[in-house]
Amino acid sequence: MTKIGKRGLLGLAGAALAAPAFAQGAFPTRTITMVVPFAAGGPTDTVARLIAQAMSTNLGQTVVVENVGGAGGTLGAQRTAQARPDGYNVLMHHIGMATIPTLYRRLAYDPINGFETIGLVTEVPMTLVGRNALPAQNMQELVALVKREGEKLNYANAGIGAASHLCGLLLMQAMGTRMTTVPYRGTGPAMNDLLAGTVDLMCDQTTNTTEQIKAGGIRAFAVTTSDRLESLPDLPTAAQGGLPGFEVSVWHGLYAPKGTPAPIITRLNQALVAALQDPNVGTRFAALGTAPVPVARATPAAHREFWQADIAKWRPLIQAAGQYAD
Ligand code: MLT
Repeated sequence: MTKIGKRGLLGLAGAALAAPAFAQGAFPTRTITMVVPFAAGGPTDTVARLIAQAMSTNLGQTVVVENVGGAGGTLGAQRTAQARPDGYNVLMHHIGMATIPTLYRRLAYDPINGFETIGLVTEVPMTLVGRNALPAQNMQELVALVKREGEKLNYANAGIGAASHLCGLLLMQAMGTRMTTVPYRGTGPAMNDLLAGTVDLMCDQTTNTTEQIKAGGIRAFAVTTSDRLESLPDLPTAAQGGLPGFEVSVWHGLYAPKGTPAPIITRLNQALVAALQDPNVGTRFAALGTAPVPVARATPAAHREFWQADIAKWRPLIQAAGQYAD
């Protein structure tokens, strides 16, 4: 039998206190918090609430969404990175997790090693939309307007690092001009100003724009995918509108704090996969121009591999643009 000295016993006790207790099969026994790093009513919030509701059913415990907006999605990410790694704190984030490590050089948390991956959720196309009274009826007229008016036009986004910021960066590079950007705590609030006509343009996810486009509340110019969408068949692609290569879609993923025990990650991933296979989630996602990722892409390992590759993809693009958040 191995003799454990006093230091050994103290060490074992310390380790037991540090790691959250996890009795196999006991998790979860109470409400789980899902942080959304943008304001309520936006596309990330929409994806999160659909997934949270379906996960609650599978877990038998409530998954409550908490909106922690600000600083391009970094404040919400920080909240989760610094939370107890006990399975009761998760984060629904998106492509910003791939760009924030380069865009933000002085964060209060580790934007890469501060998280465990639970699984990918969905990839959402983006749409270039404007206020209804904007003096441009189509993409060709919009390109001419932006090139003529430049910084007189206001472009809404959800802060540096947000998908709407990245889409705007690519759009202005493609058009060879700059507009004045107006940051919001999420594109949910930004949509209100677009509908009111107090901001001119925005590039946002179909989960936030589809219903407003169909209701005639805003004007749609293009979708940022290589093919048109079944949910918006009359909307041309950016390439068809004269901006070839202007393609970007926003992936979403679920995370937990670093150090969350593997059996808990496995249980959370099981609930996520059940949510992705939930018919109601599939139907709602389809109506909003997107779809759950295939289950093979929703494993923790596949998510981490995809995320790491996207960090490496965006880093040189951001460094070439030379625009950082701090
Ligand atoms: C983004 O621009 O990253 C998102 O649309 C923000 C949000 O979900 O509100």
